[in-house]
Amino acid sequence: MSKVIYPGSFDPVTNGHLDIIDRASKVFEHLIVAVLENPRKQASFSLEERVDMLNSIVFPYTNVEVDCFRGLLIEYAQKRGANIIIKGLRAVSDFEFEFQMALANRKLNCNIETMFMMTNNMYSFISSSIVKEVASFGGDIRDMVPPQVYSKVMDKVGASRY
Ligand code: PNS
Repeated sequence: MSKVIYPGSFDPVTNGHLDIIDRASKVFEHLIVAVLENPRKQASFSLEERVDMLNSIVFPYTNVEVDCFRGLLIEYAQKRGANIIIKGLRAVSDFEFEFQMALANRKLNCNIETMFMMTNNMYSFISSSIVKEVASFGGDIRDMVPPQVYSKVMDKVGASRY
């Protein structure tokens, strides 16, 4: 059975992430959406908030679970018995960094493959940072995040707060 990890900060989860989760869940038997707890990077949402938002959107998928990890992704993948890491690629600009990470991860463990899914072109401009920036200046983010996430983002960074 292929156990697959889709890692990220998910700060917050966007429709682009959800598209990858949806498509990967149809290709692989078991998908673990793994949220990075990074003590070196201040996230807008706490780890618990990010996990809760993800759980609220993945519950219809019976083969998807949400988990979190800290430290090296490859060590987490080993611990979970996963043999594939799935990443979304939005544009050429993502490629260089993702390529470097995939090679570094392969150097650390050559039995774990990184595979890429091209983003749906509808979502290729969306990132968690763009969502927060648009919301903070009063822009409409309804088409960028799942409905359950919309209010959480507006409460946290929406222009009405300022
Ligand atoms: O959503 P993001 O912030 O682009 O996700 C990046 C993530 C979490 C996939 C990446 O930063 C990661 O894997 N971090 C864990 C530490 C690690 O293993 N780094 C790669 C070694 S080259």
